[in-house]
Amino acid sequence: MKIHNILLSTLLLSSFAVSADEMPVKQEGIKYIKMLGGALKSQLKTKMKEDKTGLTALAFCTSSADKITKEVNTKLPKYAIVRRTALRVRNDSVNKPDATDEKVMKAYEAAIAAKTFSPKDIKVVEEGDVTRVYKPLVTKAVCLKCHGSDLSPKIKEALDSAYPHDHAVNFKEGDLRGVIVAEIKKH
Ligand code: HEC
Repeated sequence: MKIHNILLSTLLLSSFAVSADEMPVKQEGIKYIKMLGGALKSQLKTKMKEDKTGLTALAFCTSSADKITKEVNTKLPKYAIVRRTALRVRNDSVNKPDATDEKVMKAYEAAIAAKTFSPKDIKVVEEGDVTRVYKPLVTKAVCLKCHGSDLSPKIKEALDSAYPHDHAVNFKEGDLRGVIVAEIKKH
């Protein structure tokens, strides 16, 4: 009889178990990641169209990327934050990675090197009472104007003056540029 019960509950559990993709906390994280990613992307796109040199967009990123990040965070519930980071950062006063960020990003880089990477690979990391949800940001052609190795002299000059410790250059298309991460506290 006992065994029967255990079997039954195992069956019930497995049929009700949610797959990782349907985890509510993962979906919630993706929602916040999209809020930040969407806000930054749409602005970057508009500014790049306005001025093909990228200088207008660069001035915008320098003055507003962090501001927009803070604004998006004011719209989230108190138990959640969303931010950007990278292994090689441009703005290390706000975007510096911690050990967990580094581990996740190195796993993405390893997958890229092994050609098993998918940009849809959202990673979920549980740490104490916080769940982190990571989305990889892959370097696209458009990113190279400000993160590549062939920067225009004007872009280079503007970067040198705003970010004397810039490490976010020399990326190639297909490289991991960074991640967006949502952190959600148990509530
Ligand atoms: C017009 C110039 C420009 C373009 C194009 C650009 N970026 Fe950036 N990016 C910046 C600047 C400037 C910062 C630093 C923002 C700050 O001070 O918070 C930055 C920061 C970042 C960061 C945060 C981590 C860090 O290094 O500080 C990520 C991630 C990032 N960019 C990804 C991308 C991706 C992906 C693309 C292409 C889709 C892209 N960027 C295109 C200028 C640019």
